[in-house]
Amino acid sequence: MRDLNTLKEIFDNYLSGLSFPRQPEGLYFPNTYFLQIGGKRLRPSLLLLACEIYSNRAEDALDAAVAVEFFHNFSLIHDDVMDNASVRRGFKTIHEKFGLNTAILSGDVLLTYAYTYLSKSPQQSLLPVWQVFNRTAIQVCEGQQMDMDYEERESVSEAEYLQMIECKTSVLLAAAMQIGALIGGASQQEAEGLYNYALQLGVAFQIQDDILDCYGSPEIVGKTIGGDIIRNKKTLLNIRAFQAASENNDRSFSKWINMTEEYSVEKVAAVLNIYFKYGVREYAERLRNTKVNNALNILPNLNISEEAKKMLANLGEHLVYRTF
Ligand code: IPE
Ligand code: IPE
Ligand code: MG
Ligand code: MG
Ligand code: MG
Repeated sequence: MRDLNTLKEIFDNYLSGLSFPRQPEGLYFPNTYFLQIGGKRLRPSLLLLACEIYSNRAEDALDAAVAVEFFHNFSLIHDDVMDNASVRRGFKTIHEKFGLNTAILSGDVLLTYAYTYLSKSPQQSLLPVWQVFNRTAIQVCEGQQMDMDYEERESVSEAEYLQMIECKTSVLLAAAMQIGALIGGASQQEAEGLYNYALQLGVAFQIQDDILDCYGSPEIVGKTIGGDIIRNKKTLLNIRAFQAASENNDRSFSKWINMTEEYSVEKVAAVLNIYFKYGVREYAERLRNTKVNNALNILPNLNISEEAKKMLANLGEHLVYRTF
């Protein structure tokens, strides 16, 4: 059985052999640019790994892996518009570099190409694969709407937050594994087992994304640090700080939250101070670790080889305890 890094290389090679039509250049070049500026390629790697676990034939799932990576990149292009983000993967975002209309339309065509590649998946699993993909795409949109709605609210519960990040982030990682398993010949039930495992990891992955948005190093993360603070995103850190400040009759947090100008170094520093005062980083790290453990607890119930279980057990490190 080949490991995640080997499968990522296989995916990278496959992806580099694909291209969009040349014309109209204004439509396609931004997508070529966006796919070339990097990305961890986690979802396609996980998809291939799941297929490899059941069949040792990860190559069968390459087109579905492209579909999932295209969908992910489409969602990032539109996410950067919604989040008003100017940097991703260390480079300018699409709307910054090419304009808003391009971000909309190049994103749209990338989504459409995702379906073109998905439809090339092996015939025998195409219907269930299609159903998982579509259900997931709908959930991601729902999660993104919740994310935006929560920006406007003063307080959001931890349960609401967890539901939101499951939808916007976790389901796609989980679906990648479910789709790979289905193409590899797993039963529906077995594929759902992998889905449930990756769903827990995906929640931990987004909590880590929230942590890195505050404490990551910009060169490694490739995004503007503090972007979530500026937009009053209801991250786990924000929610916890709001709770702790309320319990202590501390108005300082609300004061900064009510300030909604564009980037302010002062606001980021002040909010990070409040986070420090209430130990919210440690709180977020604890919940993140709990979610990784939840994922690990699912592994013994899966009907896969010990070698595969070991590989999955190590994924937590790779996906969650990351600095990039
Ligand atoms: C970013 O995903 C969006 C989230 C769901 C947190 P990744 O961190 O996987 O982004 P890339 O593809 O590696 O740039
Ligand atoms: C992104 O969440 C989720 C999706 C793109 C669906 P974030 O907004 O936190 O992702 P980053 O931090 O911009 O990568
Ligand atoms: Mg964003
Ligand atoms: Mg977002
Ligand atoms: Mg983020």
